[in-house]
Amino acid sequence: MARSSVIPAPMEVRPAQGQDFRLGPDTAILTEPGSARARHIGQYLATLLRPATGYQIPVLDADLAGATTTGQERGASAATTPGTAKAISLRLGGGGLGPEGYRLNTTADGVSVRADAPAGLFAGVQTLRQLLPADIESPTPVAREWTVPGGAIADRPRFPYRGAMLDLARHFHSPDEIKAFVDQIAAYKINHLHLHLTDDQGWRIEILSWPKLTAGDGGSGVDGAGGGYLTQAEYADLVAYAAERYVTVVPEIDMPGHTNAAQVAYPELNGGVAAAPRTDPEVGYSTLRIGDEITYAFVEDVVREVAALTPGPYLHVGGDEADATPDGDYRTFMRRIIPIVERHGKTVLGWHEITKADPPASVVPQFWGTAGAHPEVAAAATRGARVLMSPANRAYLDMKYTPDTPLGLDWAGYIEVRDAYEWDPATQIEGVGEAHVLGVEAPLWSETVRTLADVETMTYPRLPAVAEVGWSAPDRRDWESFRRRLAAHAPRWTLRGTAFHRSPQIPWE
Ligand code: ACM
Repeated sequence: MARSSVIPAPMEVRPAQGQDFRLGPDTAILTEPGSARARHIGQYLATLLRPATGYQIPVLDADLAGATTTGQERGASAATTPGTAKAISLRLGGGGLGPEGYRLNTTADGVSVRADAPAGLFAGVQTLRQLLPADIESPTPVAREWTVPGGAIADRPRFPYRGAMLDLARHFHSPDEIKAFVDQIAAYKINHLHLHLTDDQGWRIEILSWPKLTAGDGGSGVDGAGGGYLTQAEYADLVAYAAERYVTVVPEIDMPGHTNAAQVAYPELNGGVAAAPRTDPEVGYSTLRIGDEITYAFVEDVVREVAALTPGPYLHVGGDEADATPDGDYRTFMRRIIPIVERHGKTVLGWHEITKADPPASVVPQFWGTAGAHPEVAAAATRGARVLMSPANRAYLDMKYTPDTPLGLDWAGYIEVRDAYEWDPATQIEGVGEAHVLGVEAPLWSETVRTLADVETMTYPRLPAVAEVGWSAPDRRDWESFRRRLAAHAPRWTLRGTAFHRSPQIPWE
């Protein structure tokens, strides 16, 4: 397994000579008896393996498979008994590596993935997928051997939250595009998808009690392109689709700034004066009216509806770049709306400016600055808050790779693959160490990205770098190893039809 190119790098890999497993036409997937979720993951794996192998790959409840065959073939050797041989088994219990950890053991007789919880089985399945040849991603049958290298892997994440963000406000991405994105990020054990749903240009989620927000397509995007919105049914469908891939959707309603689109739709949110629609990329000019009671009725209604549609624990309230909201008003606003969100059962996430309001320790600040001293964020961590790390000069997927990159912005600098890889979440902010970090997130703002190919070109290969930053133990991370492993992923992206940036830092195959 030394030659394996798994990203993110697993915690522990012990190769075993002569124990390679070869998939064959008789390979079955056996799942934890009685577990619908394990069965579902087995079906997901079978769906990944069938197109390229052309094998049937039945998915069977492990007990039923064993009972049938032992009943008929009592006395057959273990090596030839279906249920123990020539199978990929997905079993719950006995992992001992936490809710997302797993053990993957490969012998000549089969592959076993064990985890304490379904999320761990799903993570193990993504590792297994990467242990197979890149051709496994082919949508049509490939005549070749399908070998999994023999050995044992024990793995678990360093941080519980590894995320990516799409900005639907500056440019709307359709539900099908978002689903394709979810499929891709899940392969790198990214387990949160943050959707930036509202901004000055557009409002992208249907709110039944404030229907004019999404009349007129929710407003145009930047430069007049990319209007659109998610109906509540589409949003719920997306959330369920992501959940089946162990990705938790985090909805963001940005406030008290970045609110122009709402104030276009509802002049009463703007002191009775309709705001003018905006399709330019400026920031920092809009604000909800902190002294008006209708502001809080609006927040209550929106939070209630969005929280009810969102099974995940988080609701993101934005809070960034509220330059048109005086600091005192900002504090008043946040102190009033944080309890609203919590009353609707959600944990508040906010861009790190939220720490100006001295929020309770339950609030998660999302850091989007650059490394150094940030006393308010450090104070929040000291009070017990956990911090989500998105340093703009490391994790922002909308920054250009180099000055020549056609898409993207450069206000936080250029981010080549090595820049996205070589940083540590526990040393970004003075006073915010390992225990204070919830995880990492790579945001992709959409001022310049339009198509799914645009999204992918900015995301790959930098998101796999951030995924390894968030998942792999520091002593498992090494740039030379990473760039070689990353090179082996290009054929997978090509087979899946995923666009990517051919960074000259990577020795592409
Ligand atoms: C941000 O980039 N305004 C959070």
